[in-house]
Amino acid sequence: MAEEKKLKTLATGDKTIPPEGAKMIPIYIMGREYMVPETLTIMKAVEYAGYSYVRGCGCRGGICGACGTFYRFIGDYRLRSGLACQTVAEPNMVIMQLPFFPANRPGYDLEKMQGAPHEELRRLYPEVFKCVGCGTCTRTCPMDIDVMDYIALMKRGDLKGAAIKSFDCVMCGLCASRCPAQISQFTAAMFVRRVYGKYILPKAAHVKKRVEEVRSGKYEKMLDELMSMKQEDVKKLYVEREREPDLAESGKWMPKETKNL
Ligand code: SF4
Ligand code: SF4
Ligand code: FES
Repeated sequence: MAEEKKLKTLATGDKTIPPEGAKMIPIYIMGREYMVPETLTIMKAVEYAGYSYVRGCGCRGGICGACGTFYRFIGDYRLRSGLACQTVAEPNMVIMQLPFFPANRPGYDLEKMQGAPHEELRRLYPEVFKCVGCGTCTRTCPMDIDVMDYIALMKRGDLKGAAIKSFDCVMCGLCASRCPAQISQFTAAMFVRRVYGKYILPKAAHVKKRVEEVRSGKYEKMLDELMSMKQEDVKKLYVEREREPDLAESGKWMPKETKNL
């Protein structure tokens, strides 16, 4: 209780207005103590404490990976990680965001690969093959991706497996920041997904056909008509458009109006 009295409310931000009577909790941002309402995400708590984001914040929806964050609870040795826009602030959290990490990002041209995909991976990211299997990356990942496993798949040459396993990566860089082998797992995985998409995944015939139609000018007339319409009419057209039902069977639904397909 004595400790609670000592805590001063330092919040000055105006982006979150807590409900009346909201319970205030102490958190520590870059080592300094702030009182913030409970139930806020770390990101909102940081803003409530008076900070403005100029970096380390993007989508606010767990997609862009800009808000990777490390934190510890006072009295707990364990270093934890999460996305600031998704993780709820808790009492006595000591927070530090990692808005950028200097990962290995070698340049490459997918059109001019010098060897087989697995050999290119070895040339561009030789450190991948030095993984010591500690599992720190997997424990750090806020997306619950088995990072160590996709690195193991890369080492074995299973690039399809590595591409699929790393698909949910939001490129926050937290895994790379903790790796004792200095591997930039997420940029290596991006390379693997690109290679997979370009050289391994079967080509979609319908996409190829549509690209050819676009290039042949099939949609120019329709686009010209849209461009000449009043903004209000375009809005109406958009609002009244035929929409695919949420539960439509994949590949089966077709709109009634097909003249522009
Ligand atoms: S794999 Fe690495 S970069 Fe990707 S989401 Fe997980 S921790 Fe972030
Ligand atoms: S943190 Fe690095 S060394 Fe450890 S399992 Fe992950 S990739 Fe391998
Ligand atoms: S702000 Fe985009 S993932 Fe958090």
